[in-house]
Amino acid sequence: MAGTDNAKVKELVLKCMLAREMAYCPYSRFPVGAAILTADGAIITGCNVENASFGLTVCAERTAIQRAIAEGHRKFSAIAVTCDIKDSFVGPCGACRQVLIEFGTDWVVYLTKPDGSYKETRLKELLPLAFSPAHLGH
Ligand code: THU
Repeated sequence: MAGTDNAKVKELVLKCMLAREMAYCPYSRFPVGAAILTADGAIITGCNVENASFGLTVCAERTAIQRAIAEGHRKFSAIAVTCDIKDSFVGPCGACRQVLIEFGTDWVVYLTKPDGSYKETRLKELLPLAFSPAHLGH
């Protein structure tokens, strides 16, 4: 992306892959990792955290954004997301897209395969015509 150097993107991608290894997913056995790049260059990671009451499962992307907010970050430039699917680039679920867009429409989203290759997209492409804070006057 413009403004993010290649080394930083590589670091972001690597960190989302490491975060995937931390996933707690005994029910789905589908580990997901996410890494968020903040506007000031910090990287905050997350993994999916499942629950025996299945509906309480939290996705990797939401774990990461909630952690980032709790650590005082409010401005974000990119997120890398990965899972174990090797033959296609997989995007965040719809709920996570909505939660991410709360904090800006212009994020870059790196859809990352387990081999570290990635496809660059943007949150506003993944969630067009989104309902956002602007609709509530924020
Ligand atoms: N999952 C994520 O962590 N992120 C997504 O965007 C899609 C799904 C998790 C939730 C659950 O633990 C597992 O993947 C299977 O749905």
